[in-house]
Amino acid sequence: MEHFTYHNPTRIIFGEGQIAALDAEIARDAIVLITSGGGSIKRNGVLEEVEAALGEREYFVFEGIEPNPTYETLMKAVALAREKKVDFLLAVGGGSVIDGTKFIAAALKFDGEPWDILTKQVQVRDAVPFGTVLTLPATGSEMNNGGVISHRAKGDKLPFRSEATYPRFSVLDPTTTFSLPPRQIANGVVDAFVHVVEQYLTYPAHAKVQDRFAEGLLLTLTEVGPGAMANPHDYDVRANVMWAATLALNGLIGAGVPQDWATHMLGHEITALHGLDHAQTLAIVLPAMLEVRREEKRYKLLQYAERVWNIRDGSEDDRITAAIDATREFFERMTVKTHLSDYQIDSSSVEPLLAKLMEHGMTALGEHGDITPDVSRRVYQLAV
Ligand code: NZQ
Ligand code: ZN
Repeated sequence: MEHFTYHNPTRIIFGEGQIAALDAEIARDAIVLITSGGGSIKRNGVLEEVEAALGEREYFVFEGIEPNPTYETLMKAVALAREKKVDFLLAVGGGSVIDGTKFIAAALKFDGEPWDILTKQVQVRDAVPFGTVLTLPATGSEMNNGGVISHRAKGDKLPFRSEATYPRFSVLDPTTTFSLPPRQIANGVVDAFVHVVEQYLTYPAHAKVQDRFAEGLLLTLTEVGPGAMANPHDYDVRANVMWAATLALNGLIGAGVPQDWATHMLGHEITALHGLDHAQTLAIVLPAMLEVRREEKRYKLLQYAERVWNIRDGSEDDRITAAIDATREFFERMTVKTHLSDYQIDSSSVEPLLAKLMEHGMTALGEHGDITPDVSRRVYQLAV
């Protein structure tokens, strides 16, 4: 096992009706900016519950943080927060609203041009405190310190992270997810699944606890994922999806083990150039990535085949092929397509995607740092 420091300061408040707990979490004299997306929280009653919990506090609402939140929109929220002298942010929505709020929180305390946080890896040392009310289980953003921000004008989508951008608390009420359209619940299950894979399917590190936790999350997601689509109002199913997605990317299973993240980085370029949902890109890239990396990942692919998919018969190569096929079939069963051509994107896109990847310095990806542009090209080609 590798050395690690693990500290996660986010308080999780889980269960039906827990939005009322906001009253105990936010100072009475706070000036709050509620940040939100395109209106789902108005239609499903979540905003009303949040407002009731805030009671007499002074608050403002910023609407319009889009999926794959953009710098352009977020800077408008920064201006509003400055004008209203806001001292606490409350993100109410999915990963995009939460990621966007982390950027707003950092930008408010940042001396200089905030886009540098994304492009120049300028360290964020301070941020306005914020909490979240999660309505879409997927990204883990509710219990981690990362965010992914897009720049519409430049066609960029880039990640950042900082010790200062952990949420103070996150409210996870599974009933807020009842209103999710099937596409978003499917996206969430696939995203969480791939988060686990990025931290598990690398090479053996004698990390038995992390491996078994990761396998437990993968098995849970394959068990409850289809049910979450079929029975949208099953509280227990939604509760399990929600907690699994949070645990998939809160640092726990990734502590002390090698990590990959190449699938995510190749996926971000597809979103930036073609506008696909984050999880749609992952379902396309991962099967191709595993195929191209089957030698480097051989031992863990065999473990994954046996422990997650119960594949025990045949040669090593047959078992690996069967595990990659099972992964693809799971995504397809969740109704998330696994080829670029399913979205009318053909091989003429491979070079533009690769050019962006190189522009972003993504030239030594993966757990060994040996995914060069040539390897990425093979992955994109295979993903068509
Ligand atoms: O905008 P509104 O109206 O709220 O609608 C949203 C949006 O259209 C809707 N939605 C959310 N909750 C709902 C709901 N509709 C009905 N009922 C509800 N309860 O769902 C749509 C998608 O929302 P979004 O927040 O974009 O989805 P998701 O949570 O999948 O977040 C995706 C973003 O997170 C980033 C992705 O790259 C992408 O930008 N990621 C963040 C990570 C992190 N912070 O650690 C890691 C991930 O790998 C990922 O990269
Ligand atoms: Zn993801």
